[in-house]
Amino acid sequence: MKKAIYPGTFDPITFGHLDIIKRACKVFDKIYVAVSENKAKKPMFSYEKRVELVKAVTKDLPKIEVIGFDGLLVDLSDKLEANTIIRGLRAVSDFEYELQMGYANASLKEELDTIYLMPSLQYAFISSSIVRAILSHGGKVDHLLPKEVLEKI
Ligand code: PNS
Repeated sequence: MKKAIYPGTFDPITFGHLDIIKRACKVFDKIYVAVSENKAKKPMFSYEKRVELVKAVTKDLPKIEVIGFDGLLVDLSDKLEANTIIRGLRAVSDFEYELQMGYANASLKEELDTIYLMPSLQYAFISSSIVRAILSHGGKVDHLLPKEVLEKI
């Protein structure tokens, strides 16, 4: 069984994340969408809410299991016996951070591979931070967030 982990803060999950999840479903048999507690980032949405939103958005995708985690991704990969990490790559500006994170994880666990997937062009500009910025000013986000998220926030 080809297993992978798609980790992130998902603060909140967007159409961009969902696009990556659906692409990953074409390649893997089982994908753990792993919501990081990530206290250091001081997320806008609580850990519990972020997990709830990811679960709501992926409820009809049978290959997906949503889990929360705190701690190192490499430790989670040991626990789940999944040695492939999926990350989305939107623009060159993502590359430096992703490269560093990929190498950092590989330095901790040699067998761990990171696979980068690109979202559709229409979602390439969406990020959770853009969504939070718009939300904080009461702007419209229905073209950025799945309906399950809009209903719950
Ligand atoms: O959605 P994000 O905020 O870009 O996701 C970042 C995340 C959660 C994948 C990253 O911060 C992470 O893996 N955190 C767990 C701690 C860890 O393993 N750190 C070492 C690798 S940088």
